[in-house]
Amino acid sequence: MFKQIQHYKSDPIESLFDRLAADVNPAKIDLGIGVYRDYSGKVPVMQAVRRAEQQLFERDLSKSYLSPLGNTAYCEDIEKLTLGVDHPILREGRIVSAQTPGAGSALRAGAELVNSLNPDSELWASQPIWGHQLEFFDKVGIKINHYRYYDQLNSVLDFDGMLEDLKGMRPNDIFLVHGCCHNPTGQDLNLQQWQELANIVNQTGALPFVDIAYQGFGEGIEEDVAGPRLFAENVPQMLLTVSSSKSFGIYRERAGILSVIVASDDGTDIESVRLKLRDTVRQLYFMAPDHGAAVVHEILSTPELEQLWRQELDEIRLHIIEMRRLLRLAIEKANPDFDAEFIEHQHGMFSCLPITAEEQELMEQKHHIYMLPNARMNVAAMNSKQSAILAEVFAEVRAAR
Ligand SMILES: Cc1ncc(COP(=O)(O)O)c(C=O)c1O
Repeated sequence: MFKQIQHYKSDPIESLFDRLAADVNPAKIDLGIGVYRDYSGKVPVMQAVRRAEQQLFERDLSKSYLSPLGNTAYCEDIEKLTLGVDHPILREGRIVSAQTPGAGSALRAGAELVNSLNPDSELWASQPIWGHQLEFFDKVGIKINHYRYYDQLNSVLDFDGMLEDLKGMRPNDIFLVHGCCHNPTGQDLNLQQWQELANIVNQTGALPFVDIAYQGFGEGIEEDVAGPRLFAENVPQMLLTVSSSKSFGIYRERAGILSVIVASDDGTDIESVRLKLRDTVRQLYFMAPDHGAAVVHEILSTPELEQLWRQELDEIRLHIIEMRRLLRLAIEKANPDFDAEFIEHQHGMFSCLPITAEEQELMEQKHHIYMLPNARMNVAAMNSKQSAILAEVFAEVRAAR
């Protein structure tokens, strides 16, 4: 059986981590992995998480099975945190959610759900995009289309290109869009642009799938989801996934939601949608782990812990903003003719260095600087020495053009 698996080719993200691990140069710089690091370079566990874990440990909790829909109290918390307690979708009861093992599984489950209802649905994903995201759809057999999103060499959003491409969506095609802190570019949409996207969805009949993985990493917990909230009010139906991996720093615990938001006026039976969602996730992985979701619920239902978490998330956000400022300064110092303002106005952990794939390869081979495809740098993982080296190498690359 397994003999046929030979010379199996690793995917580009996994192979980067393999090359990085194999590089014995002590000066190598890892800008790849998408985790937040504090000033000491550690991936910290939030105090709010520690205290919630302690509270859960001291309480006599059961480890019995939950439903495949997972921790429903957690789902309700995240729906409110993301959409806002007064959002019409919540008031009108137009949402059903499953707690999933992170947003990754939610994307896969969402792909399965749509494909089972309409095998002709195609995906529309931004160019560039976080590479792993596409496999969740591709492996279900969904055809992938790209819409223009970001002009990497000029470091600007290509909104006109985006609108033009999205006009090609057909009814029931999936329009995948990042809610905030776009991965990999850090380039977000403003409120007017979200409104224009809602108009395109209404014109084409596409089904939006909004992916929010970094709430609180950009401008603030509320600010980061203002666009998705407005968008959700102006489209008839959509899928939503929210990850707790980054916002609560619980990456390996695997907690997120997949929500189906249904139309109010087309006769959809929301209870049937709930059962279909339950069956879809059960058939994929049976049931999600509970610990991460239980921790998040404990935080969001204990006012003191919620306040502590908000404070800690704000500190993370401010640290990222400071790292962005320092990187911009370092790049402009080493490249006096270059405007690196984009690094400051972009959001979240990532930005793309405006270089070609060949230049990125050279930076890796000659200077041991490792970045994800599209020269995605994790700005939040960089210390000041590394920013200075990166800036110098960038100057060298530009000089050789
Ligand atoms: C945009 C986006 N969506 C989803 C995910 C997956 O997150 P999770 O760890 O919750 O599976 C990521 C992780 O990097 C991401 O960047």
